[in-house]
Amino acid sequence: ASSSTLVKNSTNHNAIHQPVTQRSILLSSTNNYLSNPLVTRLCRATSTHSIWNETALPDKIKTLDEYKAIYALSIKDPNRFWKMAAECLDWYQFPTKIKNTEFDYRTSRGVDIKWYEDGIINVCYNCLDRHIHHDHSIAQQVALIFEPDTPTESRHHITYAELLRDVKKFANVLKKHGVKKGDRVTLYMPMVIEACVAMLACARIGAVHSVIFGGFSPNNIAERISGCDSTVIITTDFGVRGGKSSPLKTKIDQALALKQCSNVKTVLVFERNHGMTELKDDCSHLRKTLEWTDGRDFWVHKEMETVNDKCEPERMNAEDPLFILYTSGSTGTPKGIVHTTGGYLTYTSLTFKYSFDYNPGDVYMCTADIGWITGHSYVVYGPLANRATTVIFEGIPTYPDVSRYWNIIDKHEVNIFYTAPTAIRSLMQHDDAYVTKTNRQSLRILGSVGEPINPEAWKWYHSVVGDNRCPIIDTWWQTETGGIMISPIPNAWELEPGSATFPFFGIQTQLFDQTTKKPLKPPNHGELCIADSWPGQARSLYRNHERFVDVYFKTYPGYYFTGDGCEIKPNGYHWITGRVDDVLVISGHNIGTAEVEAALEEHTSVTEAAVVGYPDPKKNQGMYCFVTLKGNVKPSEELRKELIRSVRDSIGAHVYPDVIHFTSNLPKTRSGKIMRRILRKIVEPDTSNLGDTSTLNDPTIVEELIKNSPRTK
Ligand code: WTA
Repeated sequence: ASSSTLVKNSTNHNAIHQPVTQRSILLSSTNNYLSNPLVTRLCRATSTHSIWNETALPDKIKTLDEYKAIYALSIKDPNRFWKMAAECLDWYQFPTKIKNTEFDYRTSRGVDIKWYEDGIINVCYNCLDRHIHHDHSIAQQVALIFEPDTPTESRHHITYAELLRDVKKFANVLKKHGVKKGDRVTLYMPMVIEACVAMLACARIGAVHSVIFGGFSPNNIAERISGCDSTVIITTDFGVRGGKSSPLKTKIDQALALKQCSNVKTVLVFERNHGMTELKDDCSHLRKTLEWTDGRDFWVHKEMETVNDKCEPERMNAEDPLFILYTSGSTGTPKGIVHTTGGYLTYTSLTFKYSFDYNPGDVYMCTADIGWITGHSYVVYGPLANRATTVIFEGIPTYPDVSRYWNIIDKHEVNIFYTAPTAIRSLMQHDDAYVTKTNRQSLRILGSVGEPINPEAWKWYHSVVGDNRCPIIDTWWQTETGGIMISPIPNAWELEPGSATFPFFGIQTQLFDQTTKKPLKPPNHGELCIADSWPGQARSLYRNHERFVDVYFKTYPGYYFTGDGCEIKPNGYHWITGRVDDVLVISGHNIGTAEVEAALEEHTSVTEAAVVGYPDPKKNQGMYCFVTLKGNVKPSEELRKELIRSVRDSIGAHVYPDVIHFTSNLPKTRSGKIMRRILRKIVEPDTSNLGDTSTLNDPTIVEELIKNSPRTK
């Protein structure tokens, strides 16, 4: 694989852009296209249109007027718009029903979201086979470029044909171990090509993957495995990041030793970067230390030798689940967000194409981990559905030094680069020379996601990284939304540093007043809701539709509530102002305060904990923990460190309390509810504006907390 060449800008455009009339597409899409040469290829076919003719979506959105015209149609006639969008994909059976959704829980139907409900499709087929099927030369196009943690001389490229072969073989390994359509399979993997192989193999056979971020601890892994009743786990022996190895398989062993995971029958273990002999650190010395449970644990490279590379994609209903992804909520256990097949792929595919102005042959790189939604939608599914060449980066932005991203961009001639503000802010602390000594001429577009990007970071990203040449595509969206919801379209309109600008096609934003719960007319600032459904949105929480309705649809009946604040300016530009609930967004990670409180309260010395966020210029938010201790326990530096450690052990190393504030008491209402509003004001700090404290059972505690808080000193 390492010898394969990168096919750049040399694909046979004539062969791909054969105009196909809509009528022939619709006729052919009702047949089995696998045996029919007349297949759906509408999006590519329309690239020759320079003006939008309303019969098919254009390849590019070039102006604000064009956006507005298409946006208007997408709102006026969502069935028509999303039918055209679905024509970008190949279906075994093209849907006759496009949109069938209900957002109002008060109706007899209740909240119920269905898109393309009689369509039959396979996601893996659309990401891999389809491209080769339409143009055989694509077989040799590079699909994934692997950039290992340690920058080595050699490059590891995998073509579409090679990726497809590996996916088929691994799908057969899954089948051999009894995995069937609808079964849940848990992945616990680092950023390696094998993670994409495993996800796509699940999609190919209709298994529902649940990827757990590689930083989570055994407790959290166990909770997420048992939460979706997985009996098969896919992992790697080790992961390597920033020069340190992490024993993923051993963490799985620890999770499986817990009672709740007793149903797990099979653990499939990839060797980290099996066969990549050029890697300096191939982990072979560590491999000897692994424990092995015979009959349960299997090496994937050995299993792959026992299967062939023939595997027909499973025909999936558009509303069959594609994956479950856990995300932190403001209360309770993590939520198992359920995304389905046809709508999710249509939405991620279209948003990728427009928001990043993707051209065939472009090299694209997204630094998000596959354990988060950005990794699902914009490392794996969106790019591959658009036949992109994607860089998979195993490491971190500061290793071996802070030029790493910019060196990778030069090495692979990356055209589109998508990262998080937290990475930008940490890199801009250092001398600009770390950036300017690199070339970066290949860059065309710079993306941002995960938290609000402050204008200072935006400007640095734009001027220093992008040489004032590349638009910053600030994309606002969520695990629950499946894909990008508010974002600029490159070069179609003016940007304002810090604003995600306008909603994507089909997305109707609506602001509400937090107190009166009344809708607000822009320009205004309020809580952000979405007025109607879009194909990429989550359908439910795994086996808990009631909680789904409670969390997202009860606050503002008839609307999807995002949990974010937003300001819409007179020019219509949207400015996201951050979470309005008890979810912290720290360095791009969502952290539920309730989870941290539970972790602290597990400690034998702790009576009660209350966790709130405060603004932090580098990490977006810092984590502030108020802790009350059991009667005889004295606060100490040692205990403080121990509590920090136990939070990290309990949840994961990415969760780090910045402040532990020991106190004798917490401000509570007379009914015993902790007044988080007051705690937030104390740590912001904005103590001149505490609001009404008269309902507290002990108003003096507020003064004491202010006096002792390191944030108000
Ligand atoms: C925040 C990540 C401002 C927001 C795709 C949201 C953002 C939460 C932006 C979802 C942005 C994400 N500007 N805030 N461009 N992107 N957020 O589920 O608070 O990991 O609700 O999805 O991140 O985080 P999640």
